[in-house]
Amino acid sequence: MSVQVSREGSVAFVTLDNPPVNAIGRAVRAGLMDALDEIESAVGLSRVVLSGAGRCFAAGADAKEFDAPLQGPHLPDIIARIEACDVPWVAAITGVALGGGCELALGCRYRIAAPSAQIGLPEVTLGVIPGAGGTQRLPRLVGIKTAVQLIATGKPVSAVRAEEVGLIDGVADDPVEVAARLDIGTIELGQSIASLPQPEANAEAVEAARALIRKKTPHQIAPERAIDLIEKSALVSLSEGLAAERATFLELREAPQSSALRHVFFAERGARMPEPLRGQDAALDVVTVVGGGTMGAGIAYALLNKGSKVTLLETDDDDVARANVNVEKIIAASLKRGLINEDAAEACRQRLTATTDYGAASESTLAIEAAFESMEVKKSIFSKLEVHLPDSAVLATNTSYLDVDALAMSVLDPSRVVGLHFFAPAHIMKLLEIVQGGKTSDAALATGFGLAKRLGKIPVVAGVCDGFIGNRILARYREAADTVLMDGSTPWEIDEAMVEFGYAMGPYEAQDLSGLDIAHANRRRQDATRDPERRYIPIADRMVELGKLGKKTGAGWYRYPGGGGKVEDPIVADLALEEARFAKVERKDYSADEIRERLVMAMINEAADILGDGIAKRPSDIDLVTVHGYGFPRWRGGLMHHADSIGVDVVFNALKRFEEEDSIVWKPSHVIADCAERGMSLSEWMSGSFS
Ligand code: 3HC
Repeated sequence: MSVQVSREGSVAFVTLDNPPVNAIGRAVRAGLMDALDEIESAVGLSRVVLSGAGRCFAAGADAKEFDAPLQGPHLPDIIARIEACDVPWVAAITGVALGGGCELALGCRYRIAAPSAQIGLPEVTLGVIPGAGGTQRLPRLVGIKTAVQLIATGKPVSAVRAEEVGLIDGVADDPVEVAARLDIGTIELGQSIASLPQPEANAEAVEAARALIRKKTPHQIAPERAIDLIEKSALVSLSEGLAAERATFLELREAPQSSALRHVFFAERGARMPEPLRGQDAALDVVTVVGGGTMGAGIAYALLNKGSKVTLLETDDDDVARANVNVEKIIAASLKRGLINEDAAEACRQRLTATTDYGAASESTLAIEAAFESMEVKKSIFSKLEVHLPDSAVLATNTSYLDVDALAMSVLDPSRVVGLHFFAPAHIMKLLEIVQGGKTSDAALATGFGLAKRLGKIPVVAGVCDGFIGNRILARYREAADTVLMDGSTPWEIDEAMVEFGYAMGPYEAQDLSGLDIAHANRRRQDATRDPERRYIPIADRMVELGKLGKKTGAGWYRYPGGGGKVEDPIVADLALEEARFAKVERKDYSADEIRERLVMAMINEAADILGDGIAKRPSDIDLVTVHGYGFPRWRGGLMHHADSIGVDVVFNALKRFEEEDSIVWKPSHVIADCAERGMSLSEWMSGSFS
């Protein structure tokens, strides 16, 4: 039974019981309707205590049902009955009360939460709006200002904050016990929200919320629509507001943005250690990081912050000092942002040992090298780690491109080697590519997953190839951008087109931030193996020759006068013209749509090959990599979800069209061709091919 009903004297207890998070699916709704029937026909009841079994009150509507047709009974009807019930309902909240869970609580006459509870209406993060009264009842309870802040951002609040703003009536260690024993007079003082007056209009707060979400979640429909409805709550009756809310919810539930956001939500939950690997991961209380540069210091801090002791190895005393400074900078920045307090900062410092002595690493169960991107350097580090660490310790490389298998072959036992590709800044970015070499053991792979869990990161397994999943796609994205640049556009036109697509910044501004020298060094590494027939665009090389390395040198694709914001640089546009003239290219104007089509198709084509080569195990992994590592818009669901939503046949036809221009660069992936021929989506192709 998904809903339990029991009685003690005059108190009825209704308990949601749908593990793990009491998602309110059809069975729970039916159970609540039955409970209401039972309560309405019972005699002698003074109150009903509504709570959740297990770890929370309720995580909201069951979002897995959103793909299927609507099925009654419906949550708004249940909440209306709870609200109108002669016997007052008291919500006793433990864990989370989110979305429909929070709306259930708003239907109650009184709300008590445990101190650790989190309460909120995060529907917009799933591309919908609260659909069971949230946008109408919450403003009546807490006012328009707080309601827009809570609903438009979707961020839950703590029980203490919820009490401060009037969302709940009290905080108690055992809310069920307190709800059952609370003086009945106090409960009866609590009014149903339906009987509260309309909230006062607050144009200023509404405009501030609109401005905030346009900045934070541009392109997303749900936050704007939620704000419209909250604004409406001051103008129309509750029933009119509820009807408008429900219509909007049902419309957005079927819209592509909700489908995409739900897809990413569930893909994130699916990215965890596979069952057969469980229990094989190493304990991570003592870890070694080699290299205290930006990446190494970020990795070290992430570990320190989660309680690991870290030995940070460097080559000489100066570099040890620099490594200490780099970690300290991150600690200071975290303190400043209020992410940690002084005690936590001091504990991090105490857990860190920066040294040149590899002997200090002797108790580590994992070593992560984050040194210079050179096979020789990395091999020499691994040979020293091999001597000093226990034989069972996992040896990981943070390489972005180098051959993990070749590195593994340099140690006696290659099965202990795994790639752990972090993204800068390593203590902030959520993605962790776990690179599984041909000989990587289950224990080493499991340790990668264990590390991701400890650091709160999203793990994605990638096979060995140049660039793994993310950088391999990025290389094609940049190649397509450079080709459009050579053949007719400017960096700023290309950037603008991709910002309109949903990226926070375009490919050229992003390169200016990371530095053009990194990609340049990489191209030189690839010179020996690059297909000589493949078109090569030399503009980026010319930029590096001119010392335009990006923001750090004051100029890259843009200029940054005085270290400030970016300014278009006519010299760069001229450089592209010059190179095009030299290569006898007849330039043409590309519209923003054409630019987007080329850059996105190039990425999809490469990603399909990545699936075909078995480098990614499933399309949703590519979605997570592109969203969490490369800024692909979450509301488009990631690259592969986006490809499926445009339609594989559309992708295939575009690639065939471009293939007429350049048969090497635009050769359609056999995976795309296969899907188009068989009328399958990319996700179907995977499940049909690799189960
Ligand atoms: N619907 C369906 N399944 C859900 C769910 C939901 N709303 N929330 C969580 N789950 C599932 C997860 O997919 C996962 O399933 P799995 O074990 O099979 O992979 C399981 O519950 C546990 O979830 P987490 O791994 O995320 O557990 P955590 O403890 O880390 O987090 C949580 C729990 C904070 C509740 C988090 O899952 C969460 O934020 N959930 C979504 C909350 C939300 O957005 N609610 C609004 C839903 S829409 C709505 O209510 C509409 C209404 O207004 C009508």
